[in-house]
Amino acid sequence: MFPMGSSPWVGIVLLSLAFVALCVATEVTYDAHSLIINGEKRIIFSGSVHYPRSTVEMWPNIIQKAKDGGLDAIESYVFWDRHEHIRREYDFSGNLNFVKFFKLVQEVGLYAILRIGPYVCAEWNYGGFPIWLHNMPGIELRTDNPIYKNEMQIFTTKIVSMAKEANLFASQGGPIILAQIENEYGNIMVDYGDAGKSYIKWCAQMALAQNIGVPWIMCQQHDAPQPMINTCNGYYCDQFQPNNPKSPKMFTENWIGWFPKMGPKGPPHKNELWSHKGGPYITTSYDYDAPLDEYGNLNQPKWGHLKQLHAAIKLGEKILTNGTRTDKDLGNQVTLTTYTNANGERFCFLSNINNNQDANVALQQDGKYIVPSWSVTILNGCNKEVFNTAKVNSQTSIMVKKSDDGSPKLTWVWIPEKKKDTMQGKGSFKANQLLEQKELTFDVSDYLWYMTSVDINDTSIWSNATLHVNTMGHTIRAYVNGRHVGYKFSQWGGNFTYEKQVSLKEGPNIITLLSATVGLANYGANFDKIKTGIAGGPVQLIGKNNVTIDLSTNLWSYKVGLNGEKRQLYNSQPRIGVSWRTNSSYPIGRPMTWYKAEFKAPSGADPVVVDLQGMGKGQAWVNGLSIGRYWTSWISDTNGCSDTCDYRGKYTTDKCNTNCCIPSQRWYHVPRSFLNNDKNTLVLFEEIGGNPKNISFQTVTAETICAQVEEGALLELSCQGGKTITQIQFASFGNPEGKCGSFKKGTWEATDGQSTVEAACIGKSSCGFTVTKEAFGVTFSLMKVDDGVARLVVQATC
Ligand SMILES: *[C@@H]1O[C@H](CO)[C@@H](O)[C@H](O)[C@H]1NC(C)=O
Ligand SMILES: *[C@@H]1O[C@H](CO)[C@@H](O)[C@H](O)[C@H]1NC(C)=O
Ligand SMILES: *[C@@H]1O[C@H](CO)[C@@H](O)[C@H](O)[C@H]1NC(C)=O
Ligand SMILES: *[C@@H]1O[C@H](CO)[C@@H](O)[C@H](O)[C@H]1NC(C)=O
Ligand SMILES: *[C@@H]1O[C@H](CO)[C@@H](O)[C@H](O)[C@H]1NC(C)=O
Ligand SMILES: *[C@@H]1O[C@H](CO)[C@@H](O)[C@H](O)[C@H]1NC(C)=O
Ligand SMILES: *[C@@H]1O[C@H](CO)[C@@H](O)[C@H](O)[C@H]1NC(C)=O
Repeated sequence: MFPMGSSPWVGIVLLSLAFVALCVATEVTYDAHSLIINGEKRIIFSGSVHYPRSTVEMWPNIIQKAKDGGLDAIESYVFWDRHEHIRREYDFSGNLNFVKFFKLVQEVGLYAILRIGPYVCAEWNYGGFPIWLHNMPGIELRTDNPIYKNEMQIFTTKIVSMAKEANLFASQGGPIILAQIENEYGNIMVDYGDAGKSYIKWCAQMALAQNIGVPWIMCQQHDAPQPMINTCNGYYCDQFQPNNPKSPKMFTENWIGWFPKMGPKGPPHKNELWSHKGGPYITTSYDYDAPLDEYGNLNQPKWGHLKQLHAAIKLGEKILTNGTRTDKDLGNQVTLTTYTNANGERFCFLSNINNNQDANVALQQDGKYIVPSWSVTILNGCNKEVFNTAKVNSQTSIMVKKSDDGSPKLTWVWIPEKKKDTMQGKGSFKANQLLEQKELTFDVSDYLWYMTSVDINDTSIWSNATLHVNTMGHTIRAYVNGRHVGYKFSQWGGNFTYEKQVSLKEGPNIITLLSATVGLANYGANFDKIKTGIAGGPVQLIGKNNVTIDLSTNLWSYKVGLNGEKRQLYNSQPRIGVSWRTNSSYPIGRPMTWYKAEFKAPSGADPVVVDLQGMGKGQAWVNGLSIGRYWTSWISDTNGCSDTCDYRGKYTTDKCNTNCCIPSQRWYHVPRSFLNNDKNTLVLFEEIGGNPKNISFQTVTAETICAQVEEGALLELSCQGGKTITQIQFASFGNPEGKCGSFKKGTWEATDGQSTVEAACIGKSSCGFTVTKEAFGVTFSLMKVDDGVARLVVQATC
């Protein structure tokens, strides 16, 4: 590495330095332009990998692929509710072992960003807060409240101490170069008044006192108390300025997609997004259309395109972080941004934000460039195009889901959810009021039974009455005297009124209401105070001539959870007393039913999914491990999707929607580590009624891969999971048309396109070569010279 000096003294010094360097601090500072790591100004590309969203077994592959995609760092939130589900009982086992996760990040040579929060939003249940926190008397979350601040400090200190003990901070030689306290508080701070202002100051002081030796960040905190660095979250952060001009501009989240929700076609609409309701009804799948999908596969061409972007920007790292910037308006919404350093070295961005006209830009001695509408070209040295955002050269992979050939249909056994106790009004707790759901359940179950009894004397008034229930959400199922009355859910996870005709008999009548939540709100001012369940009601019976009995202050019985949950029907090993019904006629469309089937793991190493099409709403487990909530019967609306997408113009969440008329999630990932070689068990709890007939296990794989590059560029193709390229379905070097899956020859092409690509790629797991006329022979058939630059288009099978 370093040339050794001739004097032995120098050699000794270098050796001891090298030795010390193994465990010595990395210094992280910053200026207005960038982070400075060990004195070097750096542009850091960081990717978000939330450790509990995958398995420990998946981590190395994800982290390595993140690195291969050109990232310098991995960031993750810390998930308080998972680590301290019960107060002062901590869990850092399995995929909650964040220390192990960050050690792996360090082992592959990446930095890390520790986003402690501990409020994290993250489309995570209740924003990451444990429910016991909400249920503490006198507490108010995310404001100047001593009980809350004490708990936040205890948890933050716990995480920091664990990280310090493992030498995870860069100041200790570890990977963590930045840490975050709170999260997006600036977005909602105004609702907390002066208490919010003093709270955020306290957050800063509390964090600083942790003494971690690396800078702290706060995101979306426009008035971040110094020295906290304010960072940006959004699709567009170009106009963002940190409140301290001496802080660098950083995105904590530069959104590359959006997350799906149950119900609407994706991505959801903006007004709903920013409503203060926050995020119940979020699907189990959460890959955000990111460069790595939820299975850890490359999401191509996005992964490859971003890899090239990262590499292109890195070419200018030294100049961008230590140069001066000038902008030149070239007209028609085209701008040349030039960074120049003290040595006169330059690095440029040529942007065209006109959303319908391509630009043909002549930069005198620096060359001529076609900059497509709504794109940015990166010019290394200000005179060589190294990247354009709209010119996608990287491989496209068409992912397919396949069943093993001849895999048998699943054989189902079933059992009804036992409801005898709740139909008789028997619970485990009584109160003369209608209680808030999570205050009673601590969210250990989605389900809470509310039961009461009413004496009826005059059936002429009550034989055709209305049951009226006001609920704060999210779903309700009603029974009267053990008879099912009906079911309703709210579209967006909020409050609603349920009304149904019921017939009451003389004497005592038992009203049984089952309330279910579908994930708790995670975003917005005071989101934690959003009530769930039949909190406060009212629950009324309305009889003839509007005679009304208000049951809200009746004596109500409560029962948390389902009997099937208590009996752990989801576990593979049946508990004593559980006799699954084994005859072949399992019920179809029957609410409140458990189904079970045994299956063999699909062969190979590709990621496994279970296709739950045909089911209604419920939960699924494999070998006793939860794979999520499903709501497959909820089909998104039919309008507003299109096969083609004009990406130009500012991105909005209802642009280029593709998920019309389908369930928002149909396939559920079953991590390989959940599976045994021989026998496995799938258990479903079906709440509203479904048909398991079509349920099957499949693998996800890239079968068809395509790439198209212009002459002079590098063509790269690769299969995943150790497969090799078996066939070149299409190859044309000329002016081919169409898109992956449906390419067509153009008006001219090189004669030996197909054979050249076959020779380079067949039988290999990956292949790559620079596309030149020489490589393809210069003989073009029917070539028309004015048709411009030749492109090579390839479609192959893995
Ligand atoms: C930044 O530029 C200045 C000259 O303007 C130079 O002296 C200094 O070494 C450069 N710093 C880095 C980290 O390259
Ligand atoms: C029915 O009669 C009993 C006894 O007279 C009374 O306590 C109860 O309130 C009455 N119920 C209704 C619904 O009027
Ligand atoms: C019950 O009342 C509703 C309106 O309150 C009415 O539409 C319905 O026909 C009635 N049913 C019977 C059986 O009387
Ligand atoms: C739902 O809540 C909103 C806001 O608190 C309130 O205005 C509305 O009346 C409620 N609706 C029902 C059906 O309770
Ligand atoms: C009952 O109440 C409803 C709604 O308030 C009203 O429209 C209706 O006219 C009332 N009926 C009687 C018989 O009072
Ligand atoms: C299936 O089993 C249940 C109880 O075990 C029984 O009641 C039912 O009649 C059986 N159905 C058939 C078609 O055998
Ligand atoms: C099962 O799949 C078949 C064929 O795709 C389809 O026609 C049928 O509607 C599906 N049934 C259910 C219950 O999903």
